[in-house]
Amino acid sequence: MAMLEVEELTMRFGGLKALDGLSFAVEEGRIVGLIGPNGAGKTTVFNLISRFYQPVGGRISFQGKDLLRLKPHQVLQLGIARTFQNLGLFPYMTVLDNLLVGRHIHFRTSSWALALGLGQREERAFRAEAEQLLERLGLAPLKGAVVGFLPYGTQKFIELARALMARAKLLLLDEPVAGMNAAETQMMGQFIKRVRDEYGLTVLLVEHDMSLVMGICERVVVLDFGRKIAEGTPEEVQHNPAVIEAYLGEEVEVA
Ligand SMILES: Nc1ncnc2c1ncn2[C@@H]1O[C@H](COP(=O)(O)OP(=O)(O)O)[C@@H](O)[C@H]1O
Ligand SMILES: [Mg+2]
Repeated sequence: MAMLEVEELTMRFGGLKALDGLSFAVEEGRIVGLIGPNGAGKTTVFNLISRFYQPVGGRISFQGKDLLRLKPHQVLQLGIARTFQNLGLFPYMTVLDNLLVGRHIHFRTSSWALALGLGQREERAFRAEAEQLLERLGLAPLKGAVVGFLPYGTQKFIELARALMARAKLLLLDEPVAGMNAAETQMMGQFIKRVRDEYGLTVLLVEHDMSLVMGICERVVVLDFGRKIAEGTPEEVQHNPAVIEAYLGEEVEVA
């Protein structure tokens, strides 16, 4: 059984069929790319997995559990964290505090425990863990910086770090290198691979930048108009005529 299984997923916005019977699976430990031209339905897939949207049909299961029966916070608690196409950080908060927010979804301290001061201990432990994580990722010098003042590319790294604080098993990354230059893109690619290896994660990556997709994905699913038009290794999809056709007229960044 794959870690994430999407079957016959269909989503409509008014008269528009954003997804049309989409099926794919993500094996544990893989980095899987979900690509396709603008408007293909990629972000919609993420919004359905995160339970922000209710599909008109289909199934999504994670480690055998039916996600469509769960609420968004329960999906997070199962270990599915995401980053957003347009950053989802709190711009007026520090880097460290943004990371702590990532953890609070698991904050189990009851009001009883809080009254006894146990919450503080938990809070200190989180803080230490967040600092350790920043250290490990080379972001420690930024821990007190207000996020909104940092360069866009740096914020993308911090958003990923926050997802790690949420104890994710499956990371959903929506265009993590959008707006980045070639050097930053390469750094982000290495960063994603490294966290996958070190934290034993599984990654589903939506991306427009082909150099990143071809560089780090082990499998690629290609969408066009809400349907899967190809699936395979990066090599295979790159040479697939249906894929080339779908991207015609799109500005594609190639390595
Ligand atoms: N909340 C929404 N309301 C109406 N239409 C939407 C909404 N979200 C996405 N769409 C439409 O669904 C299609 C797929 O969008 P999206 O999943 O964002 O594409 P992608 O991320 O692949 O660029 C597009 O035509 C888009 O305009
Ligand atoms: Mg999108």
